[in-house]
Amino acid sequence: MWDTLFINAEIATMRLGDVPYGLVPDGAVGIKDGEIAYVGPVRELGGDIGDVAREVHDVGGDLITPGLIDCHTHLVWAGERSGEFEARLLGKSYEEISAAGGGIKATVAATRGASEEELFDAAMTRLQDFIAEGVTTIEIKSGYGLDIATEMKILRVARALEDEDNIRVRTTFLGAHALPPEFDSTDAYIDFICNEMLPAIHTEGLADAVDGFCETIGFSTEQIERVFKTAVSLGLPVKLHAEQLSNQGGARLAAKYGALSADHLEYLAPEDAAAMAKAGTVAVLLPGAYYYLREDQPPPVAALRSTGVNMAVATDCNPGTSPMTSPLLATNMACTLFGLTAEEALAGVTRNAAAALGLDDCGTIEPGKRADLAIWDARRPAELVAPIGQNPLLARVFGGVICP
Ligand code: NIG
Ligand code: FE
Repeated sequence: MWDTLFINAEIATMRLGDVPYGLVPDGAVGIKDGEIAYVGPVRELGGDIGDVAREVHDVGGDLITPGLIDCHTHLVWAGERSGEFEARLLGKSYEEISAAGGGIKATVAATRGASEEELFDAAMTRLQDFIAEGVTTIEIKSGYGLDIATEMKILRVARALEDEDNIRVRTTFLGAHALPPEFDSTDAYIDFICNEMLPAIHTEGLADAVDGFCETIGFSTEQIERVFKTAVSLGLPVKLHAEQLSNQGGARLAAKYGALSADHLEYLAPEDAAAMAKAGTVAVLLPGAYYYLREDQPPPVAALRSTGVNMAVATDCNPGTSPMTSPLLATNMACTLFGLTAEEALAGVTRNAAAALGLDDCGTIEPGKRADLAIWDARRPAELVAPIGQNPLLARVFGGVICP
C-alpha cells in the first residue's frame, strides 16, 4: 500500500520522451517511503482507489511538476550593493566597479564582518522566496569569504539551512571567485586555494563541488585548471563561471575536466558547444545576471540546442549581478531574453538542473525518484513560465511529505 496518492492531476513529469513536458493528463502520482511509486493515468490504477493508498488527494485537475531545482545561487552573503546599481546607471561598467574595489570584494568585506547567525538569518529570509515557489533543491556557493574561516562559515550556514527547513542544499566551494585583499598575486592565491583552503574545506565535508570564476576580472584558464586538478584529486566534481563577460576558453576547460556544468556562457564560441555536449557538461543559463548588467550578447542557444547540450536555468541569486530570488522569473527571462522554449525553460529548473548538480534521484517524476513535487494552481505547464511576478504554487511535497 502506498502512503499518499494524488489523483486527477495534469502531470508534467519532465521525463525525456516524445510527449511535450512528459505530460500525463488525468494522472495520478503514488508515493511510498518518500519515493515515487507510480505515475500514470488514473484510469490505469484499477480497483478501489481507497485500497491503493492510505491518503488520497484529489487535486481537481491542477498541475503537478517535479519540485523546482535552482542549480546556481550565491545565497549566503551580508551587505547590499544598490550603490553599484546606481553607478552602472550613470555609466560605470561592472569591470570598472570591480577594479575600483567594489563588486565581489565589497560583499567579501561585509560577509567577513557578519556573524554566522546574521548570515543564516539573511540567507533564510531569501530561501523562503525559493521555497514559496516550489523549490525543493537549491545549490549554494561560497566565494564571499576568500579566507578559510569565512568560506567555512558560509558553507556551514548553507548546510544549516538544509537542517532547518524542508529543502535539500548542495554546496559548492567558490574560493576562486576574486582576489582577496591579503594577496597581491592571483597565482599565490590559487596556490593557497589548492594547498590549504580546498583541502581544509574538503576535510570538513563542507563542499559537494568546486567552482571558479574564469574571467579577466577573475582567474585565467591555467589558474582554474590548477583548482580543477586539486578538486579531481580530492574526488570532487567541478563547475565553472565561464564566458560571462568575454571568451576565455573556460567552457572548453570545463568540458576537458568533465565538469557538471559551465555557467553563464554569453561569450561561448558556438564551436565549443560540441565539447560540452561530448563531456555531458550542462549549460547553466543565468538570464538574471544578463538582464541586470544590461548585457547585449545572449548565449548561443541555437548551437547549444543543435549540439545536444542540456540547458539548465538558474537565478544566480547574488547581491551584485542578480539580486533575484525567483526561479519562475528566471524561466520567463530565459524565454524572452535567450529564446528558450517554455518546455526548455521548465526542463532547465527541473531535469537539467538536477544534472547540473550531478543528482540522478530528482528533477523528473518517475518511479524510484524522490517524491519532491510542486502542485500548482494551473492547468498547463506554460502557465508557470508565461506570467511575470506571479506565483501559482499551491503546495510543495518534499521527500513525500506535504509541506505547509
Ligand atoms: O555569478 N560572476 C561571478 N559571480 C557572480 C557575481 C558575484 C557578484 O558580483 O557579487 C555571478 O554573476
Ligand atoms: Fe554566479
